[in-house]
Amino acid sequence: MGAAIEARNLTKQYNGVMAVNQVSFEVREGEIFGFLGPNGAGKTTTIRMITGLVKPDEGTAYVAGYDILKEPVKARQHLGVVPEVSNAYIDLTAWENLVLIGKLYGLLRSVLQENAVRLLRVFGLYHVKDRAVRSFSKGMKQRLLLCMALVSEPEILILDEPTSGLDVESARFLREKIVQFNREGGTVFLSTHNMEEANTLCHRVAIINRGRIVTVDTPENLRARITELQRVEVVFDKHVELRELLKIRAVRRALLAGCRVRIYTPNPPEVIESIVDFARERSLRILSLNTAAPSLEDVFLELVKGGSVR
Ligand SMILES: Nc1ncnc2c1ncn2[C@@H]1O[C@H](COP(=O)(O)OP(=O)(O)O)[C@@H](O)[C@H]1O
Ligand SMILES: [Mg+2]
Repeated sequence: MGAAIEARNLTKQYNGVMAVNQVSFEVREGEIFGFLGPNGAGKTTTIRMITGLVKPDEGTAYVAGYDILKEPVKARQHLGVVPEVSNAYIDLTAWENLVLIGKLYGLLRSVLQENAVRLLRVFGLYHVKDRAVRSFSKGMKQRLLLCMALVSEPEILILDEPTSGLDVESARFLREKIVQFNREGGTVFLSTHNMEEANTLCHRVAIINRGRIVTVDTPENLRARITELQRVEVVFDKHVELRELLKIRAVRRALLAGCRVRIYTPNPPEVIESIVDFARERSLRILSLNTAAPSLEDVFLELVKGGSVR
């Protein structure tokens, strides 16, 4: 089969709460697949099921064609994983951590040696390879986790919010390395709560919310949906009529709370000009006017509720 990862109805409950609810998707060979959702959406639980750390209540997944429930060891052999919580032993050195992974995957000593040296050099950690991980900065730790994920030469890399909490520089470095892995033929499954990261990095993105897949689409298509959702927020000194506001060109939707108006539009500059005219014609004063990019939450609301906004 062509899919690098296939999730089929993955389901997991914790104390009656559906953490992951009938999640299905396919990650194609050679793509960077984004798994985008807010905190608590179910990203980590899904990843833990795919990587064999948590047993699904229902459903299964296939990694490189191997059923994770029936052939967990074979499935694991094809995966490199950067988990949400570091899997490095902080009392061991960087080198010792890599050796440990090598043993876990049954790598030949010579292969491990060569890969570890190459990766430590590429990730700028060679000179600290004999230092305990405890002394590493967050950025260094995260780079080591990527070395540990790559040392077994996996075809598929799974990363759970790898750039979360990193400084800009470190985050960019990691993203570059992820893209490079992909250019060399690797498949990437990357979870993130960062819309921009998903947009710039991924070929396709699944949006997950409250344990369910909301949509799977290309970033271009998702972006197109989002640009429809730019907001202009205006406060007038008097009440206005919703009916009147909706007549303004480029206004897709408007919400009204007394003197406070929220307008959704693909074209904020045009709406702002019209609003100024609108106010002048009616002798209204504009007390404040703001534009806002759509939040991830706006996109979710749009996709989940099919267009109705609070
Ligand atoms: N070990 C656990 N025990 C109880 N609840 C959990 C556990 N792991 C996750 N959850 C709950 O499952 C939901 C999904 O969590 P998680 O998969 O960590 O989401 P994400 O990674 O998208 O932030 C959340 O409501 C979380 O509180
Ligand atoms: Mg998580």
